[in-house]
Parts: sequence; structure tokens; C-alpha cells
Amino acid sequence: MPTVGFLNEGKKADCGQYANLRKVALLHNVRMYKGISEKINCQGNGLCGTCVVEVVEGA
Ligand code: FES
Repeated sequence: MPTVGFLNEGKKADCGQYANLRKVALLHNVRMYKGISEKINCQGNGLCGTCVVEVVEGA
């Protein structure tokens, strides 16, 4: 089972191989948004770009 580390939050989470990173982050109380985008975002539909993450290691 893959483990995802959220470096800014200092958290790690186990997840499924094809898990949605946004959903994993939100499930583990990792802040995905800053400022107003916390209230105004597209809920992960790929329209606003506010939940962009950088994968620094792994696939
Ligand atoms: S919340 Fe991710 S693209 Fe809008």
C-alpha cells in the first residue's frame, strides 16, 4: 500500500494505489487551499487549479 507524505504539513497517509491525492489530503486534514480559494474552488473537478500539488518523489 503506497504512503503519501505531505511535506508542508508533516503528515503521512496510507492510500490506495490509484487514490485521488486531493481526497487523501482532505481526508487527513491537510490544507489544500489558501485564502479565499478555501471557500471558492471547484471541489476537485479540475476547473480552478487551486488544488495543485508538487510530487517531489515517486510516481
Ligand atoms: S479544486 Fe482542484 S482544480 Fe479546482
